[in-house]
Amino acid sequence: MKPIGILMIEHRLIEKFLSLVRQEIDRIEERLAADPHFLKTTVDFIRTYADKIHHGKEEDILFERLKHKTMDAHDTAVMAELDAEHVVSRGVVAELVQAEAGFLGGDRAQIEVIKEKLNFICDFYPVHIAKEDKDFFPKTQRYFTAEELDRMLADFDQFDSGMDKEHYNKLYDRMWGELHS
Ligand SMILES: [Fe+2]
Ligand SMILES: [Fe+2]
Repeated sequence: MKPIGILMIEHRLIEKFLSLVRQEIDRIEERLAADPHFLKTTVDFIRTYADKIHHGKEEDILFERLKHKTMDAHDTAVMAELDAEHVVSRGVVAELVQAEAGFLGGDRAQIEVIKEKLNFICDFYPVHIAKEDKDFFPKTQRYFTAEELDRMLADFDQFDSGMDKEHYNKLYDRMWGELHS
């Protein structure tokens, strides 16, 4: 497997998780209430799986190594966009956490903010992921030698060995079960 294969597999779990978030947005609209358990789990998934585990490998390994390469103008611009989008996603999750705290504290108006942030996340990630899968990842492979790609794959494995990725696969299965029971 190539290192971008690992990132693409992670994209698939993020997409599946977002489909659960979309269903939860519909439920919030029906019940005019947010499920604190679901919100906590969503924040954990995005902060730990999407940000720490996934963006962590992109930023600390892939992007970091590409910074030492001479990329063309397009790839340079896209990497800056992707980096900036990771920052945006962190900000939105922080706003979601704030709205959740307000809602749990009795401020029912925060339900609209929660919906808005969840909708933003559901719209934002697929576009970000498509930019990586269809444009940035395939185009930037040419900057690395086969040996460099092998080393990157080993470093991805090493990075992941300190993370409980399986927990998030199981978490998705459990949440899918809860939403469909
Ligand atoms: Fe990314
Ligand atoms: Fe990604």
